[in-house]
Amino acid sequence: IPVDPFDLVIFGGTGDLARRKILPGLFRRYLSGQMTPESRIIGAARSEMDDAGFREMVADAIEEFGGPEKSEKAAIAEFLDKLAYVAIDAKGEGGWKELAGQMRDGVVRAFYFSVAPSLFGDLAERLHAHEIANSESRIVVEKPFGRDLETAKALNATLAGYFDETQIYRIDHYLGKETVQNLMAVRFGNVLFEPLWNNHYVDHIQITVAETVGVGGRGAYYDKSGAMRDMVQNHLMQLLCLIAMEPPSKFEADEVRNEKLKVIRALQPVDSHHIVRGQYDADGDSPSYRDDAENPRSFTESFVAMRCHINNWRWAGVPFYLRTGKKMKARASEIAVVFKDLGHSIFEGDEARHRNILAIRLQPNEGIDLQVTIKEPGPGGMRLIDVPLDMTFSEALGEEADDVTDAYERLIMDVIRGNQTLFMRGDEVEAAWEWTDPIIEGWNKRNDVPKWYDQGSSGPDDALMLMHRDGRRWRDIK
Ligand code: BG6
Repeated sequence: IPVDPFDLVIFGGTGDLARRKILPGLFRRYLSGQMTPESRIIGAARSEMDDAGFREMVADAIEEFGGPEKSEKAAIAEFLDKLAYVAIDAKGEGGWKELAGQMRDGVVRAFYFSVAPSLFGDLAERLHAHEIANSESRIVVEKPFGRDLETAKALNATLAGYFDETQIYRIDHYLGKETVQNLMAVRFGNVLFEPLWNNHYVDHIQITVAETVGVGGRGAYYDKSGAMRDMVQNHLMQLLCLIAMEPPSKFEADEVRNEKLKVIRALQPVDSHHIVRGQYDADGDSPSYRDDAENPRSFTESFVAMRCHINNWRWAGVPFYLRTGKKMKARASEIAVVFKDLGHSIFEGDEARHRNILAIRLQPNEGIDLQVTIKEPGPGGMRLIDVPLDMTFSEALGEEADDVTDAYERLIMDVIRGNQTLFMRGDEVEAAWEWTDPIIEGWNKRNDVPKWYDQGSSGPDDALMLMHRDGRRWRDIK
């Protein structure tokens, strides 16, 4: 369904995110007919460039990151025609009058702040001073949204000085992933799961976001963040919220966000014994984290694993194990709901432990599978085995699944539609920092040194121990 015509200004329009994700994503939305031909995209950045230069840059970006098919190439020229560029001085006056002149009445005005958060205030102020933004406009902001509670509060206050909360779209691209939304469909669209979704039936939940990439190329940013700020405070926390929240009464922005906020607020502070930090070591020619980060004395973590608890009626006593890391064995992200053992087995001689596990695979190979116990086929008697009831989207849905929209393009279309359901509200972000800050402060106070782990592994041994101590184990990363 096409969205309303828009003028989208991308501040930081020549930057990495714009080139990799935002602009190729918009091109795909254009191809699909969702971005209507009346819409326009205006790149705004510091570099001096004209419209033609910007279009050339975008054409290259589409070629490199959008992988257009031959049949789509003709459409590139049409799409480029919707683009313009304004060189802008975020802290001065240069370019603002020109930008104001580009804006049209009667279309949705959206502003993507794909720039350092230190510029948010300057941009917001000038958008208002030049009457470029109005009370209908929307702004999109990227993570990192602050680096602790204090800075996040300051950013929220700055934005609130110019925009209403209903105009602010804080992106967490994990919320735009197909399977993440499917998680809500599975939980709240089926009668099967919800009755079991509590501490009577669930033994524990595991959330893994494993990456094979290192931090090479973005070491300067990453070394000041670490896995806790870069991944846990936002992406993993959002996944945790969706899996643990109470059913909202409607699938609407504030209903969903109210429930997510309650989860974050119910998180118990994490005991230092229940958290493991790691840093990847060198491996032959492959540099260590410290080399990648160009900081030989860095204590920043490229891996973190922890056990969390949610102090509420539904989840009392159920551990949530979270882990994420760079340079791991495989790129694999999943959420696994591990159900409790049967109280009693009627099958004599069946000593094996059989467990139902609902695994939601976010990437790659998106899908959901439910491990169930069945009889091993054949005449061997009542022998039980565990098999997955597998719903791999590409198999179950065929061609439709090929059209899995990238998280960014989906979220940008939501901005134009004015749908905030998949965006973080200011109080959610603050609550997440409130929980994260003491963990990071604890490390800093103790001068905590991350444990080494081998590249291509599942993280440091201590992370395995974290679960072994509880008589549990991580699912294999594959
Ligand atoms: C980003 C982090 O938010 O998410 C990166 O800053 C990380 O460090 C990336 O690599 C992972 O996203 P995805 O979509 O590839 O899982």
